[in-house]
Amino acid sequence: MVEGLSLMFLLVSLLFVSRVTSRNFTIENKCDYTVWPGVSTASTVPLSTTGFELKKGEARVINAPTSWNGRFWGRSLCSTSSTGNFSCATGDCGSGKIECSGGAAPPTTLAEFSLNGPNGQDIYDVSLVDGYNLPLVVVPQRPQSGQTCITIGCVVNLTETCPSELQVMGNSSEEEPIACMNACQKFKTAEFCCTGEYSTRQKCPPSLYAKNFKNECPLAYSYVYDDATNTFTCSSSPNYVITFCPPITSNTTNNNRSSAADPPFPAQPSKETNGGTKRQRVIGMTKTLKQL
Ligand SMILES: *[C@@H]1O[C@H](CO)[C@@H](O)[C@H](O)[C@H]1NC(C)=O
Ligand SMILES: *[C@@H]1O[C@H](CO)[C@@H](O)[C@H](O)[C@H]1NC(C)=O
Ligand SMILES: *[C@@H]1O[C@H](CO)[C@@H](O)[C@H](O)[C@H]1NC(C)=O
Ligand SMILES: *[C@@H]1O[C@H](CO)[C@@H](O)[C@H](O)[C@H]1NC(C)=O
Ligand SMILES: *[C@@H]1O[C@H](CO)[C@@H](O)[C@H](O)[C@H]1NC(C)=O
Ligand SMILES: *[C@@H]1O[C@H](CO)[C@@H](O)[C@H](O)[C@H]1NC(C)=O
Repeated sequence: MVEGLSLMFLLVSLLFVSRVTSRNFTIENKCDYTVWPGVSTASTVPLSTTGFELKKGEARVINAPTSWNGRFWGRSLCSTSSTGNFSCATGDCGSGKIECSGGAAPPTTLAEFSLNGPNGQDIYDVSLVDGYNLPLVVVPQRPQSGQTCITIGCVVNLTETCPSELQVMGNSSEEEPIACMNACQKFKTAEFCCTGEYSTRQKCPPSLYAKNFKNECPLAYSYVYDDATNTFTCSSSPNYVITFCPPITSNTTNNNRSSAADPPFPAQPSKETNGGTKRQRVIGMTKTLKQL
């Protein structure tokens, strides 16, 4: 009887544990072309994949351990050379293979996650600190669990609106821009990178370039000391959907200045009591992940 009870307890615990420890990321490609998602892990247990091909319209579910910490990005314009070396014009991870063994070469739009952090909450953001190559959104699957548990990302094509000095050109004969650098990557100055004498938020206000990114993508990090409204948290262990090239609403595509400046997503409530601490974490996360 006692043994029966403890067995039952064990089974129930196992069920409970396997339910809460299993998390899903669904990666979808709504671009008109193939995207090769890349994954880098900063925590100890990696995901089952570090990179794969996702054709137009395809989606793939990736299971994640409870406390996973890492980044997703997309690679575009990839090809395999005659010698069998795989490489991508944007987001390349330098492995020579479809699977990655490190981070992305900037400029690359990044979706960053720190699952099951303080108070069991997930922290996530979309970052343009390493520049931009593809539009992407992150959609938590239980948006009711917390006011800051919302859809975030950058839906517009920043490559199109990129200032010419920050554009990365493809090598095709049309000479089309294929990505947009962050001002820090391009100019490498302390002022744009918020290093040296500019290494605090007070001393490093947004540059015009950062303001431009912010205006186009209000729910993404435009530069390292962007305002505190870019860190999002979700409780109750939601799953996440990451969509490359999400459909753009007519409101975000028209050229009406006033409507183009409106955020494409619901406004973020800015009542964060410990926003400072959270920001430090994200900067820490960005720095840790950068070492990958
Ligand atoms: C994750 O996705 C798989 C496959 O779609 C599904 O069977 C599983 O129930 C999902 N897990 C969670 C925690 O949602
Ligand atoms: C293969 O491609 C990578 C870029 O992904 C490049 O860094 C490397 O030098 C290439 N290797 C060879 C042998 O061409
Ligand atoms: C963004 O604009 C560039 C340049 O016009 C274009 O080549 C690219 O396909 C566009 N990307 C998307 C996702 O529409
Ligand atoms: C750039 O040139 C290389 C070698 O010719 C080719 O494999 C690659 O697809 C080209 N990339 C783009 C973006 O056109
Ligand atoms: C788009 O703009 C129209 C008119 O201003 C508005 O009624 C509608 O709610 C907007 N849609 C979105 C998704 O913002
Ligand atoms: C453009 O903006 C003006 C001023 O805000 C507004 O009156 C007008 O309806 C907008 N037009 C469109 C097509 O959204």
